[in-house]
Amino acid sequence: MAVVLLLSTVPVAAASAQADCPVPASLNVCKTCHALEPGKPSRPTGPNLVGVVNQPAMHSADFTRYSVAMKAAQAKGLVWTEDNLMAYIADPKAFLASVNGEQLQNAMAFQLKDEAKRKAAVEGLEALAACQ
Ligand code: HEC
Repeated sequence: MAVVLLLSTVPVAAASAQADCPVPASLNVCKTCHALEPGKPSRPTGPNLVGVVNQPAMHSADFTRYSVAMKAAQAKGLVWTEDNLMAYIADPKAFLASVNGEQLQNAMAFQLKDEAKRKAAVEGLEALAACQ
């Protein structure tokens, strides 16, 4: 009897884990352009960022507006490690130019210079990754 009860609670626990995934406040500045909820389609202004940490660049298959610079960086094997995320968010244009070895058109017109805020944003992305 106890076993049956345990089994029957598993789907309930999984469902509530999904619901308990608020967008971390440190990512409020990204909301203007990015979808930050699991399963939500990318917006025309930016790809969905859920699960982007430690994934290759261009991780959102439904985002059709990746720039020339992002496509070139993906071809060079760019992966969104913590360090790469920190550098990208500080200055997307300069970071992609350093990956590509040349300045190409990039699409994220946003910079977060403050190091503490950037670190909090990357931690927010890591927290979101657990919500898929
Ligand atoms: C003004 C709109 C805008 C804001 C604000 C913005 N982004 Fe972006 N972001 C974009 C666009 C557009 C792209 C696609 C860039 C490209 O193709 O060059 C992008 C791409 C990314 C990527 C690469 C995704 C992938 O699929 O490879 C990451 C990571 C990212 N943004 C993180 C952030 C974070 C974190 C914030 C907030 C701290 C943020 N962005 C704020 C527009 C924005």
